[in-house]
Amino acid sequence: MRKPYHVFFDTIFRGMDPEAAHHLAFTWIGFAGRVPVLRDVIQGALAPYLGRGIGGPGSVEVLGRTYPAPFGLAGGFDKDARAVRGLTMLGFAFVEVGTVTPRPQPGNEAPRMFRELELRGLRNRMGFNNEGAHAAAASLRRLRASAAGRQVRVGVNIGKNKTTPAADAAADYALCARVLAPYADYLVVNVSSPNTPGLRDLQTTAELRPILVAAREAADVATREARQKRVPLLVKIAPDLANDDVDAVADLVLELGLDGVAAVNTTIGHDLGPGGLSGPPLLPRGLEVVARLRARLGEGPAIIGSGGITTPTDARAYLAAGADLVQGYTGFIFEGPLWASRLNRALVRDAKVRR
Ligand SMILES: Cc1cc2nc3c(=O)[nH]c(=O)nc-3n(C[C@H](O)[C@H](O)[C@H](O)COP(=O)(O)O)c2cc1C
Repeated sequence: MRKPYHVFFDTIFRGMDPEAAHHLAFTWIGFAGRVPVLRDVIQGALAPYLGRGIGGPGSVEVLGRTYPAPFGLAGGFDKDARAVRGLTMLGFAFVEVGTVTPRPQPGNEAPRMFRELELRGLRNRMGFNNEGAHAAAASLRRLRASAAGRQVRVGVNIGKNKTTPAADAAADYALCARVLAPYADYLVVNVSSPNTPGLRDLQTTAELRPILVAAREAADVATREARQKRVPLLVKIAPDLANDDVDAVADLVLELGLDGVAAVNTTIGHDLGPGGLSGPPLLPRGLEVVARLRARLGEGPAIIGSGGITTPTDARAYLAAGADLVQGYTGFIFEGPLWASRLNRALVRDAKVRR
């Protein structure tokens, strides 16, 4: 029998423009997350593992924090950190907000999000549409004002403005790190989105080193001033990097004492039209990149695996390849609001069996 969400998707969402459908769903999720009674009832039903506090079965100790379960929401869904509580209510163990750039920017002109239905994938050329670092910081400050909001695990994915020349990129990442570190459980430097011209060229170690050094320093200044603990810093890479370049990023992570790598972003390795492809076609390469990173990095740095996760089996494959945490985006669109809960429940059950 078909799942009710699949029927709903085919009758309602499929006929809508993908970005309009995103806004509609985002509005509902954000609303439910702001109504405490509704939020607590839904979260209690979908994600009991979130309520178990530190050290519940399936929780993961990584990046200096406890994550209540391994599976979270990948960057790009909640660009401005406006629906974090609604998203965790649905069962995501953490939400990576952003990509956030220093100044607000509109992104590319629409249409810029496309469904690839036969692949169960998405293709996007959004171009970092977001309201800027100060707006995201204001949303996160409100979230962190309550004890419950401080318990939610939030990664902040940072980028550069389209109009910032590559030579000044480090200053953009540093500004975002400075403004956002006080509210983040981790920061991730995004140099792998295909929709900001020249951004992916920043993945070469010569370009990347000064960016990571500047972001690290800025985050440290911010957390020292706020008298908070150090915020882990990761870098997010593309699946299209050659294996030697994946190794080079891993070596740089070790050299700089970075906290980890998020892998992978969308791919440009397709002929479907403009933009980066996400969803199931990413899975084999995503797993390969994560395994390669783990072999090169050794045990220390963390890996957040993403790319084509739909089922618990996909998530388990990333964890077996060496990821500490896993995240996804495209599966949310095709599998619906119960997706994160189903995945995390399965992963929490695995952990109980292992104990
Ligand atoms: C519409 C859309 C927008 C995205 N925006 C961002 C973004 O702003 N920053 C980022 O690092 N990744 C972004 N991503 C990539 C996802 O975070 C993720 O790495 C990628 O989609 C692979 O995971 P998936 O196959 O589960 O979707 C975006 C993906 C999609 C589909």
